[in-house]
Amino acid sequence: MRAVTLDGFGGPEVLTVGRVERPEPLPTEVLVRVHAAGVNPVDWKTRAGQGMAGLQKLPLILGWDVSGVVEEVGFGVTTLAPGDEVYAMPWFPRPAGGYAEYVTAPSRQFARKPASLGHVEAAALPLAALTAWQALVDTAGVTAGQRVLVHAAAGGVGHLAVQFAKHLGAEVIATARASRHAWLRELGADETIDYTARRFEEATGPVDVVLDLVGGTDGTDVRSVSVTRPGGLVVAVPGGVSDALAGAASAAGVRASAFLVEPDAAALTTIAGLVAAGAVRVEVERALPLEQAAEAHRQGESNRTRGKLVLEVTPH
Ligand SMILES: NC(=O)c1ccc[n+]([C@@H]2O[C@H](COP(=O)([O-])OP(=O)(O)OC[C@H]3O[C@@H](n4cnc5c(N)ncnc54)[C@H](OP(=O)(O)O)[C@@H]3O)[C@@H](O)[C@H]2O)c1
Repeated sequence: MRAVTLDGFGGPEVLTVGRVERPEPLPTEVLVRVHAAGVNPVDWKTRAGQGMAGLQKLPLILGWDVSGVVEEVGFGVTTLAPGDEVYAMPWFPRPAGGYAEYVTAPSRQFARKPASLGHVEAAALPLAALTAWQALVDTAGVTAGQRVLVHAAAGGVGHLAVQFAKHLGAEVIATARASRHAWLRELGADETIDYTARRFEEATGPVDVVLDLVGGTDGTDVRSVSVTRPGGLVVAVPGGVSDALAGAASAAGVRASAFLVEPDAAALTTIAGLVAAGAVRVEVERALPLEQAAEAHRQGESNRTRGKLVLEVTPH
């Protein structure tokens, strides 16, 4: 099968298109023909030798987000059949090999693809949507009426987090450059703050939960403590809780939590339901052919993507 592999960590040029052996599903696994693979910051961080690089072996096929069609089922699988359209973030943080024509993974890590979405849009969802959902619902337990600040609201995780927080009944405050504000308000943001023009902590009142998708850049994580109510929570998504964040949080009586997304087909089924109900939509800024994975990484690393980047995997 065709796949994008890397033999060593480095810049986008280490991603090479070639042919590798097609994986075989073990009992309880499915073989899925990948139609589209989502691209995430963890992909380019890992490619560069950071992110999840320490958990991978070379040569490596990157990619954790897939949308596709079940081609074969292994012994014992009773809930999926060949021809079913599915989407998933399988195996994370072990390698999933999404930048390829086929993946195998345990059948129960896959959920039915939202019927109203094509594979490109569906592949944009899993990792970003599970991050937003698990952080807001499972980690923070956001409830109606709470004030939730989402940093990097225009990005892959952020634009979904804005919609999920709104769906949960929260008042949503979003940081993004001004050109994103009208769109973010359409998605449900109640307040928008241009982080390039002013300090967010001077532009809004106290919040219950901060979904920090920026981290230590410009001290965003530590500064978030000053807008959080005592007893409130800062979820430190990119790099975990730094010593500086832990110190500031403890001094202010604020909680700070690290977070790492996990495979979760049940949440993907819930998210597919929200998409079907029209409560959530996913923004794909650009879809590129699988062969242009390096270009997708270059664009992603610019840190300016609105929504998501996706690779399309067409049969050859
Ligand atoms: N721990 C986990 O499980 C986990 C899971 C998913 C993601 N992450 C991490 O979370 C971060 C976000 O992921 P993502 O997929 O959403 O990234 P992304 O889509 O690449 O984010 C790009 C967006 O970030 C915004 N941005 C950049 N700097 C900003 C700042 N200082 N303040 C506000 N917005 C800023 C940009 O908005 P503007 O164009 O408005 O500037 C751009 O739209 C990454 O570091 C990623 O590695 C961690």
